[in-house]
Amino acid sequence: MSTRIYVLNGPNLNLLGTRQPEVYGHETLADVQQRLIGRAAELGFEIDFFQSNHEGEIIDKIHEARSRADGIIINPAAYSHTSVAILDALNSFEKPVIEVHISNIHKREAFRHHSFVSARAEGVIAGLGTKGYLLALEYFVEAGQ
Ligand code: DQA
Repeated sequence: MSTRIYVLNGPNLNLLGTRQPEVYGHETLADVQQRLIGRAAELGFEIDFFQSNHEGEIIDKIHEARSRADGIIINPAAYSHTSVAILDALNSFEKPVIEVHISNIHKREAFRHHSFVSARAEGVIAGLGTKGYLLALEYFVEAGQ
């Protein structure tokens, strides 16, 4: 059975490419998905790519991942800074979690400097643009998942 990685994206990331391109770049979420699927195919990995603007839907997807995924790459977007519920859901997931932020949240407003999810994540990639998702995928090669 091939390694299956869930890639979860939080609110407003559906607007990637048109939303504040000076912060988040011009690539769309569909572009990110395509690049990840391409790299995953080379690695023999399977990607389940998901975006939602609703906290509960992200939590439901994390619950699904408990029995279906070998790892999670998550950009919780604004929920990073607010959601104990997403942290609790991730704490119920027993395999590695990598947190990704397209922008460097530490260079931005103070309210973005804290992420609840970071307390659970094996690692955090921030500020490397959408390439962060691909770098997160490489972690799972290194981790021998
Ligand atoms: C983000 C950073 C968050 O602070 C913000 O709310 C987002 C995107 C990022 O990828 O840089 O929506 O997670």
